[in-house]
Formats: sequence, structure tokens, C-alpha cells
Amino acid sequence: MAIETIKWVKGTARMIDQTKLPTKLEYINCRDVKRMWSAIKRLEVRGAPAIGVAGAFGVLLGVQKFKGTDRPAFLKLLHQTCDYLSTSRPTAVNLFHMIEEMRSVALNNSEADVKTLKTQLFDKAMTIFQEDRQVCRRMGDHGAVLIKNGMRALTVCNAGALATVDYGTALGVFYSAKTKGRKFSVYSCETRPLLQGARLTCWELTREKIDTTLICDNMAATLMAQGKVDIIFAGADRIAANGDTANKIGTYMLAVLAKYHKVPFYIVAPKSTFDLKITSGKQIPIEERKSEEVTGFGGVTTAPKGVKVYNPAFDVTPASLISGIVTEYGIIKSPNVRNIKSTLK
Ligand code: MRU
Repeated sequence: MAIETIKWVKGTARMIDQTKLPTKLEYINCRDVKRMWSAIKRLEVRGAPAIGVAGAFGVLLGVQKFKGTDRPAFLKLLHQTCDYLSTSRPTAVNLFHMIEEMRSVALNNSEADVKTLKTQLFDKAMTIFQEDRQVCRRMGDHGAVLIKNGMRALTVCNAGALATVDYGTALGVFYSAKTKGRKFSVYSCETRPLLQGARLTCWELTREKIDTTLICDNMAATLMAQGKVDIIFAGADRIAANGDTANKIGTYMLAVLAKYHKVPFYIVAPKSTFDLKITSGKQIPIEERKSEEVTGFGGVTTAPKGVKVYNPAFDVTPASLISGIVTEYGIIKSPNVRNIKSTLK
């Protein structure tokens, strides 16, 4: 894949500015943790696995300029940095998992001096980065078996290279299927309000020469009623122990439609997106974003000033509506507490 969403380059986190796509491919160079916090908040970097890596890189940015050998002072800064980054967005659990992996480097090394801790933190962040690349390719290969020649798939939001380091979860399934020579096409829901489907998914799928058709979100039911959708793939931001899955707002609506129209509905997500500490989707914190995202776009006002707005960024699809979850360990069919636990081990 030629898309490098996030990368560590000489002490800075270099990331595609996703707010500028599809019209401009620009990069931002994050040099400090505050800039990383706002990049996550503003969705310059977005998508659960990508913000997990961004979180790990953010920790590096927060501690790398620490001078001296005072270990307690260094640990204090590390904890402050981790806590601060954890306030950027609430739903994608990858962010919290990766920040905690970074924090645990220090917690597990009670003897290490500051220099050693810095090296270990750097190594951990690079491992997190590389693992994302490998895990996405494994998920893609597992999911590709579901795609048969002639299929018309549908996806929502962007669960592609732009939502990970460089390959994607749901879109990774398409990339792998294409490599295996399968012929298929994809409908991309535009994904109001921030249009991740129209702006990002269509951008990357067309770049990768995958037959792609953009639809407005409210066209999905008609398309399914017309028998034009054979399979649905979506990503995830947090999956509870019972398989209930939070993903971009609108995913639940597609899952309900899929059940009614008997279309298989798959989630594609790595182990790092599971939150096995929570028993059901009811416990998933859902981010609410500012009203301006709904009342206008790109500087154009689309609603009367002062109108009340409800803008949850995610919804929860109950496990009962999910045909399977494609993970790096294989496909968990009809997900439930037991088969999720035994697959993820
Ligand atoms: O608000 P966003 O753009 O960060 O939401 C992203 C999604 O909902 C994705 O579908 C999800 O993170 C899976 S990405 C592989």
C-alpha cells in the first residue's frame, strides 16, 4: 500500500491530515503532545487502530524532551502524558490500550534509569506500529475468503489504510481479495456528518483501483431491497465481551437493514479493539461531538442558526445482528462471550 497514514520520522509523528482529503494530500508533523492531542480530537488522525498508534507516539512526544536522570520526575511526566492523551476521544478502546501498553513499560521496569526507559518506550511504540501493519494484513486474508467473484459489498465510514498505519481492517479485506484476483465491487456510504466514507474510503478505494460507488447513507435500504448488496463489512471502535460493537454512527442502522434483507453483516477488527472488561455494549462510552459538525460542512451552513443538534459519533450494534467478527486469529461466527474468549485467548 502506498498510503502511509502515520509514521515516526526523526522525533516527530508524521501523519496524513485527514481533514484535507480528498482534495489535498497534506501531512502534519506533530512535535509535541499537545499537537497530537488536538490532531486526535480534530480527526486529523482518526480510526480506532490509527489513534491507538497516535496515542503511543503521543506518549513518546510527551516524554522525549525530558532532560536529566531524575526517575520519579520522569515517571510523573509519563503518567501526566498518558492521562492527558486519554482525554482526547472516549470511544475507540485502541487508544487506551496502546497508552496503557506504553505506561506499563515503566510500571514493569522498577529498576530502569531514565535513559533505559526512554529507549524501552521508543521500542514499544515501534512494536505497536509494526504490529498494526501485520495484524491488518492477517485480518484481510481471513476476511477475503468471504468475498466471491461478482459480489457487491457495502461499507461505512473509513476502516481502511487511513484508519490504521497503512492497510485497514474492513477495507483490508478488499485489498486482500483483490490481490487474490477476486472480482467484486464496493458501495461506500458517505457517512454523515463528517463524510469519512465519501472523502476517505472513496479516495483510497479508487486509488487502489477497486470498483467503488458512493451512496448517501439513506440509500442503503433501497439498495438492499433491490438485492444489490451481497455482504457488508464495517470496522469497530470498541467490542464488548459479548460481541456488541461500537462503530461509526449509522452502522447499527445498516445491521438492522441487513438482518431484514438477509445480507451477511461482518465486523473486521483486531484484538486491540476488544474491551473484554465490559460485558455489553451498554457500557461503551459514546462520544458526542459539537453541533457545528451537523449544521454545516466545509464552511457552508446547512441548518438554521441556533437549532438544537444531537451528534453522537458512534452507535452500538448488538452481537445478535453480527454474522461474524473477522480478527487476526480468524473469523468469530455468531459472536458471543464464549467464542470471543476462546478465539482471542
Ligand atoms: O470518528 P472516526 O472517523 O474516528 O470513526 C472511525 C470509525 O468509526 C471506524 O469505522 C473505526 O474506527 C474502525 S477503523 C479501522
